[in-house]
Amino acid sequence: MFKLILVFLTLFGFSSKAQNVQLPQSFKICSKSSPNLAECVKNSVEYLRPSLRTGDLGNGIRIVPLEPLKIDDIFLERGSGFFFNLYNIKAYNIHNFKIEKIRVTLEPNVVADLLIKIKNVDCSGDYKINLLLGIVNLQGHGKIEGKIDEIKARLKIETVPLYRDGVEYKNVTKVPAIVKIDKLVLKIHDLFKDKVLNDVGERLVNQNLDMFLPEIEKSVSNSLSKIGLQASSGVFGRIPFKLLLP
Ligand SMILES: *[C@@H]1O[C@H](CO)[C@@H](O)[C@H](O)[C@H]1NC(C)=O
Repeated sequence: MFKLILVFLTLFGFSSKAQNVQLPQSFKICSKSSPNLAECVKNSVEYLRPSLRTGDLGNGIRIVPLEPLKIDDIFLERGSGFFFNLYNIKAYNIHNFKIEKIRVTLEPNVVADLLIKIKNVDCSGDYKINLLLGIVNLQGHGKIEGKIDEIKARLKIETVPLYRDGVEYKNVTKVPAIVKIDKLVLKIHDLFKDKVLNDVGERLVNQNLDMFLPEIEKSVSNSLSKIGLQASSGVFGRIPFKLLLP
């Protein structure tokens, strides 16, 4: 009898608790049994885009805003004669991502595999440079801007079930990301006092940027992976799974 009451209380308890959470208007609901689940989730995520930008999903649910995206510090080094450090870098226009491909797996765990494209990403921040040219040691620091034509990223949102008060949520365990950058152009301010010299230096850096691209991509990958984990945890960890995907 006691057990029965306990079961009843628990059932009643969690059903009322789960109903307390109202799904914000920013969510378009997909059914687990939808014949084209991937397409539906894709539309849902794209519909959520304006809210992802600000982090305000509505109904008091706030997650980390997608914009500006803080990029991990970048250290570019070649031998002892070249040191280029980019820091306080922020990227804009990330919310204009397009989902090119998506695959949603429900079993054994919910995993979303996404291929996204982001066009016209603007970055800005600070740089420090240390260049040894012959016997001349050039040091400089200042503001830097970057323009990226296109970022291609593959993100995988991996989850495991998480129960709180008998209600199933999803814990996002990791969001590995692989980023490819298509064409990056840097604008370097205050490298040299002289404008002509500054333009020459800027051109030199841009002409040799390709060899540093893998390091820059790695940093952007880490940053996207972090924001992806925080943002998706904010959704999956707070809204019962059966509301998100009934
Ligand atoms: C949930 O995932 C995070 C990583 O996002 C991890 O640190 C944590 O231990 C996980 N918790 C549970 C209960 O699985």
